[in-house]
Order: sequence, then C-alpha cells, then structure tokens
Amino acid sequence: MFNNFLWGAFPWLAIAVFFVGIFWRWRSDQFGWTTHSSQIYESKLLRLSSPLFHWGMVFVVIGHLMGLAFPKSWTQAVGISDHAYHLLATIPGSIAALAVLLGFAGLLYRRLKNRSVFLSTSTSDKVMYALLGLALVSGSFATFTLQLFDLAGTGGYDYRETISPWLRQLLIFNIQPDLMAGAPWQFKVHVLCGFTIIAVWPFTRLVHAFSAPVGYVTRPYVVYRSRDERTTPMRSTTAWEPIRSNRKQLEGETPSHGA
Ligand code: HEM
Repeated sequence: MFNNFLWGAFPWLAIAVFFVGIFWRWRSDQFGWTTHSSQIYESKLLRLSSPLFHWGMVFVVIGHLMGLAFPKSWTQAVGISDHAYHLLATIPGSIAALAVLLGFAGLLYRRLKNRSVFLSTSTSDKVMYALLGLALVSGSFATFTLQLFDLAGTGGYDYRETISPWLRQLLIFNIQPDLMAGAPWQFKVHVLCGFTIIAVWPFTRLVHAFSAPVGYVTRPYVVYRSRDERTTPMRSTTAWEPIRSNRKQLEGETPSHGA
C-alpha cells in the first residue's frame, strides 16, 4: 500500500499540481513570472555562481533525459555498450553535479551574506532553496556514492533496469511500484525529492526556467533621450553626459519632412 502511494500516487499528484499550478500562475500572475533578479543588489558573486549553477543544470537535465527517457536497448542498438554508457553517464554527470553544487553553494552564500539580497528573499524563495537543495544533494549523493565511487561494490547501480522503465511506464499510466521498491535508498530519496520540487515549481521563481528571453536578442533598442533643456533645466549634479542628438531639432534646423 505504502509502495503504491510512493511510486504511484505521489509522483502523479506532483505532476498534476505542477500542471494545474503552472496554468493558475500564468493566468493570475504574469507580472510575477520572472527570476526576481537581485543582480542590482550584488553582482560579483552572482556573476560566478549563476553560470556555474545554470550550465551545470543544463548538463544534468540532458543526463536525466538520456538516462530516463531512452531505453537501454536503444543505446545498445547504436553500438554503445552498457559499460561505455555507465562511464558516459557517470563521469560527465559527476562533473555537472559538482558544478551545480558549487554554483548552488555560491548562490546560497550570497543570499545569506549580502543583507540586501537576504532582505529581498521571500518565503517561497526559502522553501524553494531548501527543496531544490535536497533534490540536488540527494541526486549528487546517489551518483557519487553508488556510481562514481561504487561504495556498494556492485560496479555501479543499473537504474536503467528499474528507475527508468518505472518512470516511463508511470507516465503512460502503467504504474509498476515494484520496479522502484528494490532500488537503493539513495535513489528512492532522490526521486521523492525530485517530484517534491516539481510539485512546488509553479509557486516559486523557478517558473522563469520556462521563459527564455529569446526576443531580447532581436528587440529594438530602448532609446533614452535627455529632456528639453530649455523648458526643464538639467540638474548641475548630473554625472552623465546628456544625449544631444536632438539639439538641431530643438533649434529648428531640421529639414522639414516631406515638403
Ligand atoms: C527537478 C528535479 C531534479 C533535480 C534538480 C535533480 C538533480 C540531480 C542531480 C544534481 C544529479 C547528479 C548529477 C547527475 O548524475 O546528473 C541527479 C542524478 C540522478 N537523478 Fe535526478 N534530479 C531531479 C529529478 C529526478 C527524477 C524525477 C528522477 C527519476 C524519476 C531522477 C533520477 C536520477 C538518476 C537516476 C540519477 C543518477 C544519474 C547517473 O548517475 O547517471 N532525478 N539528479
């Protein structure tokens, strides 16, 4: 019964909350659909930790897709032996995990140490940091202990025989809790943490992951103009040079348009 809940009902509850939550958030809070960037408060630590975390995550996501979505028979069919797959998943996977953990630690340190960043941290941020941290640490722990250092002495756990088919079958409504029941506890904890962060995703700033600023590259420049200095005198304390490209227009020297 408990196994059915953990490996049948819970993941689907999380998926349902995710989709309903995303729909609700999009309908009710589009202005809040943002990273809530705190770059304005602190940028030095952010410049280092943020790319480390995000690029690491890109490779972690690619690794998850590779290991969970593609059946073992597919990689075998294209000539990748199981041993080669294991090395291919474990070595880059561990490097990506290390980058993510270092980046995450940097972001967390910055958030706690910098007063302005700390004060701009909402309750949903705190919940998100805790649950995301659990998912990252548990996944990295499973990879480091069982796959990289093989502390169980089994030559690495073959999750493509259990966790991967369990997930694929779950997603097509063919729930098979027994496939997960025999997995090592490190992976069980990780999968539960993974689905938990998926459930809270829509209610946090993580929604920004679905909004890449692609249009930013092609959008027109935002043009800043100085005020008309004849009607509104510049403050003498202004530290920057006003834009004077419209001086001629102001002095009436522009060629008249069309006539
Ligand atoms: C958003 C949620 C999740 C996050 C942030 C996350 C994060 C991580 C991290 C950082 C690693 C270690 C690096 C790596 O090997 O890629 C990892 C490994 C792993 N995760 Fe997740 N994970 C999540 C969800 C899941 C879910 C839902 C499953 C399965 C249903 C899963 C299965 C695995 C497996 C099997 C590994 C080991 C990969 C290997 O060692 O080759 N993860 N995860």
